[in-house]
Amino acid sequence: MHNLQPLLNKTYPKAASAKGVYIYDKSGKQYLDGSSGAVTSSLGHSHAKIIPFIKQQLDKLQFVYRSQFGSEEAEALATKLFAVSVNKSHAHSFFVNSGTEAIETAMKIAVQYWQEKGQPEKVHFLSRWKSYHGITMAALSLSGHALRRQRFEGSLQKYPALYADLEKDSLQQQRKEFIEVIEKKGAKHIAAFVAEPMVGAAGTALTPHPEYYQEMKKICDDYGILFIADEVMTGLGRTGKWFALEHWQTVADIVTIGKSLGAGYAPIAATLMTDKILDPIKKGSGLIMSGHTYSGHPLSCATALRVLEVIEEDNLLSNVTEKGVFIKNRLMELKDAYPFIDVVRGKGLMMGIEFNPSRKGLQARFIDQCFNNGLLVYPAVGGATGEDENGILISPPFILNQIEAEELLYKFEKSLNEINN
Ligand SMILES: Cc1ncc(COP(=O)(O)O)c(C=O)c1O
Repeated sequence: MHNLQPLLNKTYPKAASAKGVYIYDKSGKQYLDGSSGAVTSSLGHSHAKIIPFIKQQLDKLQFVYRSQFGSEEAEALATKLFAVSVNKSHAHSFFVNSGTEAIETAMKIAVQYWQEKGQPEKVHFLSRWKSYHGITMAALSLSGHALRRQRFEGSLQKYPALYADLEKDSLQQQRKEFIEVIEKKGAKHIAAFVAEPMVGAAGTALTPHPEYYQEMKKICDDYGILFIADEVMTGLGRTGKWFALEHWQTVADIVTIGKSLGAGYAPIAATLMTDKILDPIKKGSGLIMSGHTYSGHPLSCATALRVLEVIEEDNLLSNVTEKGVFIKNRLMELKDAYPFIDVVRGKGLMMGIEFNPSRKGLQARFIDQCFNNGLLVYPAVGGATGEDENGILISPPFILNQIEAEELLYKFEKSLNEINN
């Protein structure tokens, strides 16, 4: 094998085609994409409104380099993102190619912001230990995802982290810890607090208290710390709103998006920011020192804009909410029926199920069993410290219809039954 995939000794089936919520392998076996890949393919596969559009865009403009040209495609996408941003607050977008890059850019923009404000010593970041922000060294330094960071501990930055339990500890305890950690490190050294509105791969859709973000944002403002919301997984409709922070009525200073932006049709991600963040940089150095060769790729930008338009045209945010409620209600019933399910949680089509951590190996067995039954689900970690490999994310495409939702649940329960025996 010349192409390397994550598990070097595993033989992965080769995907041959995909349509709607289904993927087909070379043998013709059908899989219901219950995870949208890595919570990405929000419009499913081979969408009739996307494929002809990409072909048409290919004939027009594919690539120009961002230091030489802008493009109508990138401008139009940034304008649309401004229009859908929380309270129309994020007027500016910096395009990159992956969620990790969006986080790296967000970190750099935060540091540059404070440099322009005359506080160059603000170079550290505060994050929650239970989190995943990306795979590069800096993004991983923010992330407590043990499995993904354990081999690289020695190479990672030591940023201060929050350990309070988002569900079990009270909001008061969470606030207290937040303030203590800020004061211990010294606000004068902290550029930003970085958090996923709902914790995905590192928390199995862990969802903070309804007042959590307003409280934390207020503390950030009081101490002069920026708030970076990592909406790479939650953003652009996954939770039934354009941005998950709408559920908390909170506006972050900087927002990262990825995954659902290109929806699997184009590799694209972005770092969004308010005027407050951009203005001092614009008036100061006039340069954002980040970016990549493919940043602002016109074909990717045009595709992403079309994705957002289709979400609107086809009223998919309502479908996400409606199908999410239907699936979650059924999962709650399954929790009562299967004692090894500890937790069911989530919003929209981002749902998490945690198995009892004492049942070692159950998660892997379950994922394999689902795969055998033609259902794709996504692994996540959970438990008290986020080190138990006991979580499953269910995150099907936004286009999921009622029959497909029932099929997903049927295969899910069938797999539960089979691993229970
Ligand atoms: C919340 C969050 N941030 C960042 C990332 C990194 O995104 P990417 O894999 O596109 O680099 C992910 C990926 O799973 C994520 O879930």
